[in-house]
Amino acid sequence: MSKNIRRYLIAGNWKMNKTASEGTALVREIHHEIGHQSDVGAVVCPPFTALESCAKALEGSTVQLGAQNMYPKSEGAYTGEVSPLMLRSLFCTYVILGHSERREYFKESDAFINEKVVAALDSSLKPILCVGETLEQREADETTTVVETQLAGGLKGITADQAENVVIAYEPVWAIGTGKTATPDMAQEVHGFIRKWLEGNFGEAAASKMRILYGGSMKPANARDLLAKEDIDGGLIGGASLQAKSFVELVTIARSLV
Ligand code: 13P
Repeated sequence: MSKNIRRYLIAGNWKMNKTASEGTALVREIHHEIGHQSDVGAVVCPPFTALESCAKALEGSTVQLGAQNMYPKSEGAYTGEVSPLMLRSLFCTYVILGHSERREYFKESDAFINEKVVAALDSSLKPILCVGETLEQREADETTTVVETQLAGGLKGITADQAENVVIAYEPVWAIGTGKTATPDMAQEVHGFIRKWLEGNFGEAAASKMRILYGGSMKPANARDLLAKEDIDGGLIGGASLQAKSFVELVTIARSLV
C-alpha cells in the first residue's frame, strides 16, 4: 500500500504560548512563506484567545486553523468551556483532542475524549486524536496495549466514513518537550501497529486514507528521516512550531518528500 494517497500534514500545537498579537505576527510570517502551497497540509493550533485574530490573518491562506481542545456540547451551562460550534465560527478545521498534557493535568479519560471526538465530527471538525505511552509504560513493554486502549476508547462508535476525517497523532509522552525523539524505526513500529489496528476496525480503504502524525521533539534536524517512514504522515509539533522559520522548514521538508 503506497502512502501517496495521504497528503502530509504538519500541525503546530502552540500549547499555552502566544498572545493574540504575537500569534497574529507568527501566522503572518508563516502565511508569507507557505500560505500559497497545497502540496502538504499545514495547520496552526493557537490558544483559544488567538484564534479569531489568527483566522483573520489567514484569510485566503492555504494554512488552516485548529484548536487545542473543546467541550463536547454545543452550548449551555459549562463555565469556562468552548463548544465545537464556537470553533467552527472562528474557521477552525481541526481540533486536537486527548493530548497527553490534558490526560495528565486535567485527568481526561478515554470515555470523555471519545465524547469530544464524536461531538467534533458531528460539527464537521477534524479531530487530531493523540495517543502515546509514558516512559514507565514503554519500559514495562506496554506500548501497544496502551495505544490500543486509547484508540479503542477514543474512537468508540465511529464509522469508517467518519474515521477518514480523523487524524491520529502518536506522541510518546517521554519524547514531548524533552529533546528525546523516538528513532524513525521506533516510531514506524508503533505507526505500523496503529495502521493495522485502524484496518482491523475500519477496513483497509478507510485506514489507508487516515493520517498518522508523529509528535515529540520533532524539528527540522530529525524530521526528514521520520517523515520518510511508510506510516508517518506528518508531525504534531510543539516547540518547533513557535517560530516561523522552523515550522516553515518542516513544511518544506515534507514537500520535498512528495
Ligand atoms: P514538542 O514538539 O515540544 O516535543 O511537543 C510535542 C507535542 O506535544 C505536540 O502536541
